[in-house]
Amino acid sequence: MNIDVFTLFPEWFGWFRGQRHVTNALALGHTLECVDPREATPLKWGQVDDTPFGGGAGMVLRVDVMEAALRARYGVDPVALRERRRVIALTPGGRLLDEALATELAGEEAITLLCGRYEGFDERILEHFTSDQVSIGRYVLAGGELAAMVVADTVMRKLPGVLGKDESALEESFSPALEGAPEYPHYTRPAEWRGWRVPDVLLSGHHERIAAWRREQSRRRSLP
Ligand code: 6GU
Repeated sequence: MNIDVFTLFPEWFGWFRGQRHVTNALALGHTLECVDPREATPLKWGQVDDTPFGGGAGMVLRVDVMEAALRARYGVDPVALRERRRVIALTPGGRLLDEALATELAGEEAITLLCGRYEGFDERILEHFTSDQVSIGRYVLAGGELAAMVVADTVMRKLPGVLGKDESALEESFSPALEGAPEYPHYTRPAEWRGWRVPDVLLSGHHERIAAWRREQSRRRSLP
């Protein structure tokens, strides 16, 4: 999978690229690359944003700048690009990210994530250049970068072979294996600490009873 992130702050992703599941994915041939719209801007002094028509606070990412950046990267009209590639703007009001969307995106050959800053994107970017808008929750971040990292994190860990066999994504919270329920509780040594005992069933070595107990715990956690 190829993930391109359009961001005015590409250096923020240096830390993210060092995460183990990300380095695993890169070693497997997947890519995560940052594109800085400032590098391709047709405007003077690296200008990328402007004040909003009609007045108001903040700055808005310009449509001509985003078009130039997308054209420079992909060599096609961005209006046509979104027909053959998911181009996703990170916006607070977008489709809420959940496991189903993460799984859907993990099945794509390539995705592009557009990060807005300040007051966000000129609406024509969203209308004409993007296929989706995604939000990571109903609160406002100062920019889309952290949201793009959240999307890339949850998508990359789903790629086959990215997680070690000890950290399988198969039976985890919200997975089909748990019928969409949160995960069951985990315990490790010591078996008792300050009188807090690990449930006996987990020490029993009885695999069927352990599996049944876990299913029951998981189900219980999904109740309102
Ligand atoms: Cl995707 N962007 C911004 N700026 N704020 C957010 C968000 C995205 N998701 C939740 N809050």
